Amino acid sequence: KTYKIAVIPGDGIGQEVMPCGLASLRAAASRFNFTLDITSFDFASCDYFDKHGTMMPPDWVEILRPFDAIYFGAVGDPARHPDHITLWGSLLQMRRQFDQYVNLRPCRLVKGVPSPLKDPGEIDFWIVRENTEGEYSEVGGKIFEGTEREVVIQETVMTRIGVDRILKYAFDLARTTKRKKLTSATKSNGIKITMPYWDSRFHLMAKDYPEVKTEQFHIDILSAHFVAKPSHFDVVVGSNLHGDILSDLGPAVTGTIGIAPSGNINPEGKWPSLFEPVHGSAPDIMGKGIANPVGMIWAGQMMLLHLGEKEAAEAMLRAIDTVLGRADGNVLTPDMKGKGTTQKLGDAIAEAVATV
Ligand code: NAI
Ligand code: MG
Repeated sequence: KTYKIAVIPGDGIGQEVMPCGLASLRAAASRFNFTLDITSFDFASCDYFDKHGTMMPPDWVEILRPFDAIYFGAVGDPARHPDHITLWGSLLQMRRQFDQYVNLRPCRLVKGVPSPLKDPGEIDFWIVRENTEGEYSEVGGKIFEGTEREVVIQETVMTRIGVDRILKYAFDLARTTKRKKLTSATKSNGIKITMPYWDSRFHLMAKDYPEVKTEQFHIDILSAHFVAKPSHFDVVVGSNLHGDILSDLGPAVTGTIGIAPSGNINPEGKWPSLFEPVHGSAPDIMGKGIANPVGMIWAGQMMLLHLGEKEAAEAMLRAIDTVLGRADGNVLTPDMKGKGTTQKLGDAIAEAVATV
């Protein structure tokens, strides 16, 4: 079987970790007998913007649409161009245009990766974030700008279709896990129109999934629980803003943002889904060759799972666990308290993908 993959390294450490991701994916492909037909693109980067004055070519939708998936590094470099131009001009366009309404992030404590918590317990949960509407809308405006009477308004947009489809994805996922538990992030005590609506759709849908245990927490105490008892969670679903916050907090309690992957998924497969590490372009460490490549590699693992290559995906996860579990200080990157390099760690995992 052949999969057409669009590769977009982007900016900063995106370009440094991408080769590691590709090395592991190639190792998986040759071991499990499928072919990755890879095309690399230089757009969605500050270099491209400098040359063309836009982040992406005008026909980017037609260019990317035929691919089975997009494998994405990171975009943005605030020292060169502001984030609202670089991120809004690329990644956020893709998420919206390709209707990638699910942002999926696994949070797992991996042996060998130091957690900032003293007694983290067993952490293994999913965050399902709504990725196309909610608080991140373009509805709003300003009046009396620059005067004392200045007014700024930004609306939250929730549609029944938008809320129901993300909740359904989360319930379907919770149904497949061992613990079958779904937690909803809300704030209906403060946000009194949209959040009670979210809650009502959640409770209504729960009736269709009697096998799934449900609960809800306000986002403030939920954030506290993420730190105090992360082992409690199984699948957590949230609106765009709540999910955004939780999906950085989740990986943080498992150790380093450098290992966390994410999928921007269009479950119906009408459009290509996009897989990327959670981290950004990390300008503070770029060019040093010390970026942790695990987030990029793990994102490739999620991509294989999405494409239906279950065995290969399992082998990739085993490879990550095996190499990190060795806790070899010469291989682990500095964010995991080692003195290894991007290349060293990437090579070790690619080798393990071929063998373990
Ligand atoms: P960042 O994730 O790039 O960096 C945050 C901190 O984590 C930095 O100290 C960095 O050195 C460290 N870090 C991140 N990834 C690492 C890795 N793989 N290995 C070791 N350390 C790692 O977030 P920041 O600094 O807020 O943003 C930098 C740029 O990236 C901005 O332009 C931002 O908009 C963009 N960004 C892009 C994202 C994307 O493409 N999906 C996501 C987040 C930020
Ligand atoms: Mg974020």
